[in-house]
Amino acid sequence: MPTIDNPTEKTLAELGLTSSSEIPALFASVREQFDRQLGAKTAKEPEYLAMHYAWLGRKSGVLGAITDNWLKTAPPALKPVVGQSLNELKRHIESSLESFRVAVEKTSTESVATREKVDLSLPGVIRPIGTHHLIRQVFQEIEDIFVSIGFSVVEGPEIETPYYNFEALNIPEFHPVRDDMDTFYLELPKGAPGPLLLRTHTSPVQIRTMEKRQPPVRVIVPGKVYRRDNPDATHSFMFHQIEGLAVDSDITFCDFTGTIDYFVKQFFGESVKTRFRPSYFPFTEPSVEFDVSCVFCGGSGTAKSGGTCGKCKGSGWIELFGAGMVDPAVYGFVNYDPKKVSGFAFGIGIDRLAMLKYGIDDIQAFFQNDVRFLRQFP
Ligand code: FA5
Repeated sequence: MPTIDNPTEKTLAELGLTSSSEIPALFASVREQFDRQLGAKTAKEPEYLAMHYAWLGRKSGVLGAITDNWLKTAPPALKPVVGQSLNELKRHIESSLESFRVAVEKTSTESVATREKVDLSLPGVIRPIGTHHLIRQVFQEIEDIFVSIGFSVVEGPEIETPYYNFEALNIPEFHPVRDDMDTFYLELPKGAPGPLLLRTHTSPVQIRTMEKRQPPVRVIVPGKVYRRDNPDATHSFMFHQIEGLAVDSDITFCDFTGTIDYFVKQFFGESVKTRFRPSYFPFTEPSVEFDVSCVFCGGSGTAKSGGTCGKCKGSGWIELFGAGMVDPAVYGFVNYDPKKVSGFAFGIGIDRLAMLKYGIDDIQAFFQNDVRFLRQFP
C-alpha cells in the first residue's frame, strides 16, 4: 500500500485554506503525487490493485477522503471550485489507472503466450507401444488351431471347490493322486462355505461345461492354474494350461490321436516327432502322456557341448501334456449316459509348449517381466 503523503485527512479550514484561488494548486499537488506513485510502478497486477485500492478504494481511498474532508465540509463559497477540481482529478486518476490496467493485462497475456508457445518443429512424444505377452500369443495360436476344427473357447473360475477340482473328476478324498496336485487352499472367514482352493488344472471346467451342455461338446479352456511346485527351469507355482474336451455319441481313440496330431503338426510344423506313452489320470481311461522330440538337442539326448541334454535329461523327449478318453465314471457326475457317449480330453501346459517352440530354456523368464526378454516376441 502506498503511503499517501497528503493533507486529505484534514478539512480545508484545518489546512488554513479560505480562498478559491488556492484550491487548484492544492489539487495539482495531489495529482502530482498520484503521477509520481504511478510512474514508479511496474505493470504487474498486484501493483495495479494496490494503486486502485489506495486512490479509488471506497473506504480508505484518497478520492474518498477528499470528498469527505474537503468537498463535504467546504464553505459554500469554495464548494463549486472544490467540486470541479475533484471531478478533474477523479477523471485523471481513473483514466490513468485504466491505461495502467490495460498495460498489466497486455504484459500478462504476452508472458502466458511465451510460456505456452508451441514449437511445432519439435518431435512429438513417442509412447512405447506394448505387445501381447508371449504366453498370450501362444494361447491365441492354439485357440486359432482348435477353433478352425470346430472347438469353441470357454473359461472357468480360478478359485474352485474341491468337488470340481477333484471329486467330480473321479479323484475322491484321500486318493493318492491328490498328493501331486494338492494346492493352495484359501483362508476363509469363519462360517463361510468352503473349503475353496486355487485350481490345480483346467480340468474342472470339463465338469462345469458338461453340467451346462448336452453332447456334442467340443471346447477348449485356456487359463491359469496353481500348484505347490518349487520353481525351477520347467516348474512354476502358477502356470497356464489349455484344456480340451470333445464328447459325442461316437468319438473314438482314433479321433483323439488324429486331433492331437493335427494340432501338434500345425503348431510345431510337420518335422516334429511325437509319441504317446501310457499314463494315469483318474478322469481318463485309457490315459496317455504326449511327448515331442526335444527341440534343444534335436531329440538326440546329447547337448551341443557333448554332455547329456539338461532339458530332456538325455531322453530326447519332452513331456507336453496329459490326455485320454474321458473315464465313464466322470459322466456319472454330469448326468451323461456312459453307454451313449464317449469322448477325449487333454490338458496342455502352455508355458512348456512356448518354451519348446521358441527355444526358451527357463520358464521363470515368462514371469520376470524383463522387457529385454519380452521385446523379443513382438
Ligand atoms: C493335468 O494337469 C491334467 N489335468 C491334464 C489332463 C487333462 C489329463 C485332461 C487328461 C485329460 P499334468 O499334471 O500332467 O496333467 O499337467 C499337464 C501339463 O502341465 C504338464 O504336461 C506340463 O506341461 C504342465 N505342468 C505341470 N506342472 C507344471 C508346473 N509346475 N509348471 C509348469 N508347467 C507345468
